[in-house]
Amino acid sequence: MPIHRDSLLKSILAIDCDFLVIGAGVAGMRAAIELAQAGSVLVIAKDSLRESSSEYAQGGIAAALNDDDRIELHEQDTLYAGDGLCNVAAVHTLVQEAPAAIHELIEYGAEFDRIGSKLVFAREGAHSRNRVLHAHGDSTGQEIARALYHKASTIPAIHFETYSAVVDLLTNDAGAVIGAVALEESTGELHDIHARAVLLATGGLGCVYTETTNPAVATGDGVAMAWRAGAQVADMEFVQFHPTALHLEGAPRFLLSEALRGEGAVLRNRIGEAFMERYHEMRDLAPRDVVSRAIVAEMARTDSPHVWLDLTARGSAFIHERFPRIFETCLAYGLDLGKESAPVHPAAHYAMGGVHTDLNGRTSLPGLYAAGEVACTGVHGANRLASNSLLEGLVFGARAGREMRNCVAATASRNPDKPEPTWLVPDMPIAQLRELMWKNCGIVRNREGLQAALDAMDRTPMLPAERPTLAAIELRNILQAGKLIAACALWREESRGAHYRTDFPEKNEAFAHDSLRTKSLTAG
Ligand code: SIN
Repeated sequence: MPIHRDSLLKSILAIDCDFLVIGAGVAGMRAAIELAQAGSVLVIAKDSLRESSSEYAQGGIAAALNDDDRIELHEQDTLYAGDGLCNVAAVHTLVQEAPAAIHELIEYGAEFDRIGSKLVFAREGAHSRNRVLHAHGDSTGQEIARALYHKASTIPAIHFETYSAVVDLLTNDAGAVIGAVALEESTGELHDIHARAVLLATGGLGCVYTETTNPAVATGDGVAMAWRAGAQVADMEFVQFHPTALHLEGAPRFLLSEALRGEGAVLRNRIGEAFMERYHEMRDLAPRDVVSRAIVAEMARTDSPHVWLDLTARGSAFIHERFPRIFETCLAYGLDLGKESAPVHPAAHYAMGGVHTDLNGRTSLPGLYAAGEVACTGVHGANRLASNSLLEGLVFGARAGREMRNCVAATASRNPDKPEPTWLVPDMPIAQLRELMWKNCGIVRNREGLQAALDAMDRTPMLPAERPTLAAIELRNILQAGKLIAACALWREESRGAHYRTDFPEKNEAFAHDSLRTKSLTAG
């Protein structure tokens, strides 16, 4: 069906398409390319098409393509990082389909770094082989997103709508998803978008926290909307905190890639001591959760607001050549990484949990699919292996797209007596909410803090508003995602992967399973 627009009410417009893709990062774009074979596709983005977590991903994309590597080793490393909670079938699918996914990207025009004609494979934390591809040194996500957009923009069936925030999913009386309501930010108009199938590819939720490496658009929209529509979510307690975000007054929490430590960067405390050797045998390349907690401990021990990342031994010329984006960004803030150490602090980076799906992106609601960071296939378990996230977007984005092609439109019948939705906006300043989450549901947790955060969020008054604004939509979603994280973290009385509780510091096999939740079983 061609995309069809119709003016229904004064300011409510209706749009029909076959497939609606919410989010324009790697997972959304890859799915759109598959979907275009079966009908019209509308890709809708809250900001410009470039503003997604994919665009900022520096670290790379992992695939067992190097001569000394094997798919089973990539599988083993992913399972090890996941700390006993990975969905083994999802991991198998990811690593098995990785090499073909990379070759396909190269066909689309993605340029990965090479020496001569040979691809260069780097080592990152917890990988047993050199298997991480980079593009332009430290702009891998940007290059992959560029290649996918370039491909998608040549396909006439794919249409793009930017600066339009999806407010909520539309469901019919049987609970099937039949589209979404979107806010056109420039006009304040609401659009009902009807589709045969809807894909959530909205990325992560880092902005739930004060400190995050994620772009400002990562406000947990997909998981919050899916929850409100009644979809099952899983593993929300597992949030990965990246150890090294730049911590300069007035600067965004820019990611200083783990690959810097792969090239020899050393973490030092206030008195210049390389402290990681006291915490883990892998020192600076220990798993991210270990490094983040070590940094928090050192900051407390030395009464310092951050620690330091030191790569000065490599000199400016090398760093500029190998990490051009990082080097130039730091220089713009007056920091020459070849001459001085960078102040760093952990920051929320990646959500392992999200909307529960099978390996083809199907959620618990008919008509609703999810792929990429917003989804939880269980592929990352309790902790994601470095450079598996762009790969996840590619592999599971493509699979979801293929599956959605078979989706038959649900009847759009909606009860005419159903009242128009009332927009309820949380009455809590966003900075206060993010600080509450950072302090109580962050890197180190306990029952008292988690319960206090949950109580404060549950008590937050919800005030009616005539029309949603972008700020209100995001605040509501952050509150919802925050509640889910706190509730799941409270339930999981153990420490595993990225989830660490001082009151339950050990792993407990009674919790060696997903924390599945649906709205009907728990409050709000
Ligand atoms: C990094 O470059 O350190 C981040 C890569 C990732 O999150 O996989």
